Amino acid sequence: MRLSVVGCGYLGAVHAAAMASIGHDVVGIDVDERKIAALSKGEAPFFEPGLQEILTEGIASGRLSFTTDMAAAQGAKVHFVGVGTPQQAGGYAADLTYVDAAVDGLLPYLSEGDIVAGKSTVPVGTAARLAPRVAGRGATLVWNPEFLREGWAVQDTIDPDRLVAGVPTENGAPSAEGERTAQVLREVYHPSIDKGTPFIVTDYATAELVKVSANAFLATKISFINAIAEIAEVTGADVTTLADAIGHDARIGRRFLGAGIGFGGGCLPKDIRAFSARAEELGRGESVAFLREIDAINLRRRDRAVELTTEALGGSVFEKKVAVLGAAFKPHSDDIRDSPALDVAVRLHGLGARVTLTDPAAIENARRIHPQLTYEEDLDTTLRDADAVIVVTEWDEYRRNLSPEHAASLARGRVVVDGRNCLDPAAWRAAGWTYFGMGRP
Ligand code: UDX
Repeated sequence: MRLSVVGCGYLGAVHAAAMASIGHDVVGIDVDERKIAALSKGEAPFFEPGLQEILTEGIASGRLSFTTDMAAAQGAKVHFVGVGTPQQAGGYAADLTYVDAAVDGLLPYLSEGDIVAGKSTVPVGTAARLAPRVAGRGATLVWNPEFLREGWAVQDTIDPDRLVAGVPTENGAPSAEGERTAQVLREVYHPSIDKGTPFIVTDYATAELVKVSANAFLATKISFINAIAEIAEVTGADVTTLADAIGHDARIGRRFLGAGIGFGGGCLPKDIRAFSARAEELGRGESVAFLREIDAINLRRRDRAVELTTEALGGSVFEKKVAVLGAAFKPHSDDIRDSPALDVAVRLHGLGARVTLTDPAAIENARRIHPQLTYEEDLDTTLRDADAVIVVTEWDEYRRNLSPEHAASLARGRVVVDGRNCLDPAAWRAAGWTYFGMGRP
């Protein structure tokens, strides 16, 4: 099928390449000339495992191209909109400027019967607001939220846990047009649906809310365990053993119960804030008032990591050399948007520590935003003469491959702060380190 994808950021670039990889003819469109130039050469503009391969393959096959010219959307049957919805400057609500601009930009190139499929994460009510504009061109709007995780984006796009289509409804059920558009999306995603991926057809509001509720739930799970970590800290309990124990209950599950310095990234923080802001607009602020608490717990964990490092260094980090391992908001990503890891590094620097920061993928991005920090590609050099080591992103390079004995041979101090509870305390202690975890004795 001929498809267009408007917006070639994280979501759009991966979606375009993934759709080409399952056999569609895809044009990716973005206003950013640099991004389009890179993508056209088959270069992934960010670090995402597997993306490079499907980009190269798609371009070589002739099924995938990129352009800044919106007119290229003409002739596609489905037009995906995957532009960003960042947090508004000076507020919690989502900034919908790019979504509106993408839809308006597409309008002149839509033909009768086309489908515009919104993928961006938007406040509930957005699709209903945009639908008449699309309908004015004889096309139909569907909302088809994206649930991809960075680091697994290609796999999550080709083989998602579920597909959701919010379509026009009539008397509580999809209208005839709604049924038709759902069928077209089934054709788009048929390789995945044929393998048994659930395909849920619903109304606009439900589709929009599925996405924000999923992210709110995940954020809540993480802040829940981090709140328990705070209690563990004053009682001598170990939150990781506790998480293992409660996680054995299938109703709870162990995933997303990783206590540490908390969540960050381009989605969870801004999405829970936008959800709160939207709920307030709807007169239901109290229904999700807990999300403010989730946010607050999350941010407190960064303070705690700084506090632990300070305690570990005898009350002050001033002029102490601190090796910070990690800058990305999570491993397998070079994304530093709202990264707790980078935030902790910046705060330590602000307190007068001599911070040296390393990361397998995110140094360039971090340097651009925080040029005041010292960056080092090489892990050994980062560790050399450090008074304290703090792990803030659980890359395998630190979690699995860094031996505590080797680290001890390089560092000056023997203090390690495990901001992600990803190291083996016994092994580090055996090598002579004083180990500090988050919510662990
Ligand atoms: C998230 C959602 O998972 C995805 O479905 C949605 O489409 C976009 O937002 P992503 O931002 O890629 O994806 O990151 P995710 O893997 O969810 O991790 C978010 C943050 O939570 C990271 O900073 C991670 O380090 C942190 N985290 C995760 C924890 O602190 N503890 C955990 O147990 C799990």
